[in-house]
Amino acid sequence: NYYAILMAGGVGSRFWPVSTQDFPKQFHDMLGTGDTLIQKTFHRLADVIPKENILILTNERYNDLVLEQLPEVEQRQVVLEPAMRNTAPCILYASLKIQKENPDAVMIVAPSDHWIEDEATFSKNVKQAFEFCAKNDALMTLGIQPTFPNTGYGYIEYNKTAQNTIKQVNQFREKPDYNTAKAFIAQGNFLWNAGIFMWSVKSAVNAFKTNQPRLYSLFENGISDYNTSSESDFIKENYPKAENISVDYAIMEKSNNVFVIAAEFDWNDLGTWGSLYDKLDKNDSNNAVVNARTLTEDATGNMIRTKNDKIVVVDGLSDYIIVDKDEVLLIYPKAKEQDIKKTLKKVKDKF
Ligand code: GDD
Ligand code: MG
Repeated sequence: NYYAILMAGGVGSRFWPVSTQDFPKQFHDMLGTGDTLIQKTFHRLADVIPKENILILTNERYNDLVLEQLPEVEQRQVVLEPAMRNTAPCILYASLKIQKENPDAVMIVAPSDHWIEDEATFSKNVKQAFEFCAKNDALMTLGIQPTFPNTGYGYIEYNKTAQNTIKQVNQFREKPDYNTAKAFIAQGNFLWNAGIFMWSVKSAVNAFKTNQPRLYSLFENGISDYNTSSESDFIKENYPKAENISVDYAIMEKSNNVFVIAAEFDWNDLGTWGSLYDKLDKNDSNNAVVNARTLTEDATGNMIRTKNDKIVVVDGLSDYIIVDKDEVLLIYPKAKEQDIKKTLKKVKDKF
């Protein structure tokens, strides 16, 4: 009864110029290990979930990329979105499909772009959560011990008195402002939301029905358990009408049956070049290098990547992102990495 939905529809624009709209980060070997992020995620999930029960949710333009990178996946497992509407619509769409196929399904919702090295512990935590969700009406999130007031994450306040691995959640708060995040962390009983959710398909569909009645009624009739042409017509017409909203705001903040399991493994959401730098092995001069041969002098803390093992010489430059890809060369301070999105817009306007 175990199922997964793997979300692979984002664009990852802060990883420009490697990640682009035509070829987003989840389809790249960001870590330089030989596997792309989506391949890594798929194989991690396949340790717990039968391969044929893993659905890949993505924009229709990435269909061929998915099939090419995951040859074990059949076309019926690739669920295509005609428009980008964030995570709530795509999760409801896939959940309704799974429910048609198996009303007793227990499922995990996973982003395709996270770094998790300890796969055995990941599997262990997922199994624990699945066992709980099979028996309880629960929306389970995976919690990460916070280290600083990151305003890009969701925060989970759990019940302090709970002794178990799985704890009841008092409050789920998506992307609080800096001061709120700081206060949360000081309180001690808050975790970051990893963006990985587990629940029975029944609980998920109920949560949408209760908290997002408009979205629910938009999709309610018209989803089948396989990709019929009537379904694809239905989706083409109705999916774009869905509100653009993430699952965090749509159901997690609003529900009172939220539970959390604290991850016992290291996690990173690989959102920026800097977070990738943190996770990669560094060379003697503390630079992280992917697909390049480097000669550095008075240069440290740099994230360096080329396409084809290019020789890169850096002298007198530290804490920079240096990425060479086809027609673009990016040399950008790591401290400003969040602004790459804005810079990309300017580049598009100018060239
Ligand atoms: N299929 C599909 N369709 N996938 C999508 C879409 C879409 O329209 N939009 C986003 N995704 C995928 C992204 O590729 C990513 O893997 C995942 O869904 C989460 O989307 P993000 O846009 O990266 O969300 P976020 O980082 O702002 O916040 C979420 O993740 C944080 C942890 O990384 C939230 O769940 C936060 O609460 C959480 O802390
Ligand atoms: Mg993210």
